[in-house]
Amino acid sequence: MTGNSYFFVVAWLVCNLARSIDPQPAQDVLPLFNTTTKLKPAITQMRDDAIITRIGDRVRDRHAREAEFKAYDHYLSFYWQERTFSIEIVDRVAQGGNDITINITSLTPLNTPNFRCFFRGINTVAEYHHNAIAKEVAPNQYSTTIQHNPLKGRALQRGDFMEFEFSSFLAKPQNGRTAYYGTALLYVIGRGIVPWQGEGEKLHSVPLPEEAWLGGETTLPYQYSNEPQERFKQMAGNISPQNVQTFMLGRRLHHTDFGNGSHSDQPNPPHPSHAEKLGPGFVQRSCIACHVNNGRALPPAVATPMYQTVIKVGHDPFGAPHVQLGSALQPQSTHGPAEATAMIRGYQTVTGKFADGTTYSLKSPRYSFQNIAPQYFSVRLTPPLVGLGLLEAISESEILAHTDPTDIDGDGISGRAQIVLDPETGDLRLGRFGYKAGQARLRHQIAGALNNDMGVTTLVFPNLDGATDLEAPQPEIKNADLANLTHYISTLGVSARRDLKDPQAVRGKSLFTKAGCVQCHLPKIVTGPYHPLAELRNQIIHPYTDLLLHDMGEGLADNLGEHTASGAEWRTTPLWSLGLTPGVSGGEAYLHDGRAASLEEAILWHGGEAAAAQQAFRQFPQADRLALVRFLKSL
Ligand code: HEC
Ligand code: HEC
Repeated sequence: MTGNSYFFVVAWLVCNLARSIDPQPAQDVLPLFNTTTKLKPAITQMRDDAIITRIGDRVRDRHAREAEFKAYDHYLSFYWQERTFSIEIVDRVAQGGNDITINITSLTPLNTPNFRCFFRGINTVAEYHHNAIAKEVAPNQYSTTIQHNPLKGRALQRGDFMEFEFSSFLAKPQNGRTAYYGTALLYVIGRGIVPWQGEGEKLHSVPLPEEAWLGGETTLPYQYSNEPQERFKQMAGNISPQNVQTFMLGRRLHHTDFGNGSHSDQPNPPHPSHAEKLGPGFVQRSCIACHVNNGRALPPAVATPMYQTVIKVGHDPFGAPHVQLGSALQPQSTHGPAEATAMIRGYQTVTGKFADGTTYSLKSPRYSFQNIAPQYFSVRLTPPLVGLGLLEAISESEILAHTDPTDIDGDGISGRAQIVLDPETGDLRLGRFGYKAGQARLRHQIAGALNNDMGVTTLVFPNLDGATDLEAPQPEIKNADLANLTHYISTLGVSARRDLKDPQAVRGKSLFTKAGCVQCHLPKIVTGPYHPLAELRNQIIHPYTDLLLHDMGEGLADNLGEHTASGAEWRTTPLWSLGLTPGVSGGEAYLHDGRAASLEEAILWHGGEAAAAQQAFRQFPQADRLALVRFLKSL
């Protein structure tokens, strides 16, 4: 055993002792939401004469099916300025009537707004049967009514598929261009908006089967515009009119450099009111600089500084702040030298064998520090930002129902709830976010990122990391801005599962169950009824996580605990959108520190409570191992 791993084993034991004396019973956590939570309006409303659906939309450059232009899912300049809409569908056919009225509300006057429905695809891949100019009925309000299904040549009926696209032409925009297209949405008469896939040569839209709706109704339609890097940046498929503009304002902050105020996508103008907030100590200058395309980051090359990694540090294995460094390392500084920097010094190779005799090798990173070397630290590579609002909406009772802290059922898998103190109210909460579930709600996670990663203060964390002043200065970011950023992250859409009929992926799905992966990576959860955002309430989702902490063994352990988690415990990582990683991040890196360069490596690192599942995977013949990985790639 090398000195290094001896040290890790000792630290691991210390942390596990710490956890066994943890006194807080999980049942005492205060739910984030309950019957008194103020709910934003529902997306659909039942009336005697109609079902009404209200949804938000944004401008697009080109159309959904134009792979050659790669210009549908990206965001146009000035996207936050006057360029969102709300669409209200008054479906009287659903209640026995014979027409559907579409009402559109814009933020600025429009010029001949064009509502097109019933996709046909003649000559162009963006051609519809029905083309209407919506009539102005009040300032910034437009309306049109449909009675006929031109695809079928008859009156509208319940169950008809009505794809539509609303093209807005801004009469006098403050900035940027005037003419845009909108989102291609599929409305099923009598049912609502559904995520769709294209069928046949023309990609006629048909609803995706519900098993593909990984994020419930937030699920995005399949993408046909050849922009794989844009997949994690889309608004939820069911974004409400109340949140669509908020999403854009939050997105702008997410892309803002808090040093010079610039926007990451040119030629968007800078956000001057958010310049000069960075630092003095920081890891990165903007959210998007770490969360590349809202996806995960890739680990830096050996011996280069780590600027997309958060290194939590401590004075002891239980997570008390480090005397000089605070609770996280800030390797960059706006004024003078940084407090310390860290690098991957190299990798230690670990080898093993599958049951069929094939050998494999894994690599475990070793770190070096400059200036100050903390004894207790935890290295975390930037994770993707998919579906997090839905995870916040799962009720505490649902998560706690899966805990088995003393392994009463004797399956070798315990699963403990992380318990944290709410930084705003002081209540005990269930931890959900971060690799050790150290934050209870997205607002806290984001305020923590602003503080530790960028040196920007908020009402939630008014003192910078390591600061000892008792009197908190004025927060640098207003509460309204933090709320916009939180809404933005909460309402990012989840991509649909792909390859539903691929025989290898289908077989892989049953092997995922057979190997016991489902015991932690839960395939199905229903979100609670009390989240303020309608998009997230009562959704059937497939996140493949239980949000619980599991002891993953010595191989993955570090030596720094966080709240009630030991160095060996990690929150089960959600697996939705896993297969989109290469397209979004331009490469692959899995697990908390990005050490696994492939999904197979990630599985082989599983130990501790997941040892039996790892063992089952190693027993599989190669064809089964490939099938299981194929299934993960369909997520
Ligand atoms: C220095 C790189 C970096 C920056 C900058 C950064 N993040 Fe993160 N982000 C991370 C890492 C690393 C984690 C995992 C943290 C942990 O385990 O505690 C994370 C976690 C998160 C999570 C929780 C993800 C999950 O699965 O639980 C959210 C949400 C998030 N970040 C949003 C943001 C937002 C919004 C910003 C900008 C205000 C931001 N981040 C800035 C690196 C970064
Ligand atoms: C005992 C609970 C448990 C079981 C069983 C389990 N996992 Fe995990 N899984 C985790 C935890 C916890 C992590 C996070 C570990 C880390 O980051 O160090 C994880 C991480 C992963 C990751 C990496 C995801 C990412 O985005 O980095 C993959 C892939 C994965 N698991 C697949 C599987 C498969 C396949 C199986 C079955 C062979 C399985 N897991 C069984 C708990 C479990």
